[in-house]
Amino acid sequence: MAKLLEHVLDAFFGHPRGLPGRIGGAIMARGNAEQEREAIERLAPSAGHHLLVVGHGPGVGLALAADRVGPTGQVIGVDPSATMRQLAAERCTAAVAAGVVDIRDGSAEHTGCADQSIDAVVSVNNVMLWDRQAGLAEAYRVLRPHGQLTITVHRHVLNTSPQQLTDDVERAGFVDVSLHVRPRRMNSPAVDLVARRAVPPVDQRAQPDRRKQRSQYEPGVPRTACAAHSESHPPPGEPAAVRCGRIRRCQPGTRHIFACEGSGRWKYLTV
Ligand SMILES: C[S@@+](CC[C@H](N)C(=O)[O-])C[C@H]1O[C@@H](n2cnc3c(N)ncnc32)[C@H](O)[C@@H]1O
Repeated sequence: MAKLLEHVLDAFFGHPRGLPGRIGGAIMARGNAEQEREAIERLAPSAGHHLLVVGHGPGVGLALAADRVGPTGQVIGVDPSATMRQLAAERCTAAVAAGVVDIRDGSAEHTGCADQSIDAVVSVNNVMLWDRQAGLAEAYRVLRPHGQLTITVHRHVLNTSPQQLTDDVERAGFVDVSLHVRPRRMNSPAVDLVARRAVPPVDQRAQPDRRKQRSQYEPGVPRTACAAHSESHPPPGEPAAVRCGRIRRCQPGTRHIFACEGSGRWKYLTV
């Protein structure tokens, strides 16, 4: 009996298909609209941003995101359900015609997006359907450095603990991971997770403009012996959030400058 119910619910919501899928889509478009809106508002994408909406369902989030990024931006939606892609295309007809919304057959694990091409990845009520490790690795791959991952899900459908979700996101390499379990009226709590793709280690970046960077050093701090590392933190325009552990080690005794995460202050580390 429980198995049969699971199967029926899956046809409405999990992997929507056929008539049940269309009915499920209409229910989700009403019932989850607020959560979709909150996710996009929290993310606050700017004009010109490139967003990836994973498991978009009936497309409420796609339409909201398209309004935010405008004609110079792009919203890519991936969903394995043909029924949901159809409903989303109907909801976003104008934005699809304008080339702002691009709806694709895909999944969290296989988005088809290029490496580091996306400013933000958004997932509403579908992380429980992913192969979580593969989906998080894919989100990490497609996000630009410092790009944002936003996951929100009803607590009652999340198939793991919020703490385990946080741990998995950190294990996938994301930083600045924050998680809130938010009570709601007339619904189970929402689990909201936000994280960022790490900034790559210094030796994997393009060579920076050193004259620009010097002006960022704390006054009076002598330049150090390790030019390759110490003169690259933080990169121009980025907050001082580079973890010291990411600095490749040099000769013993070399003095590095590193930025202590959150403090914004320069400090010395001798390795
Ligand atoms: C419960 S619905 C949520 C839809 C919408 N975001 C909402 O909150 O109303 C789950 C959606 O995730 C899609 N989905 C299923 N497996 C997925 C996967 N592995 N990756 C991404 N999306 C998936 C389903 O096709 C469906 O559209």
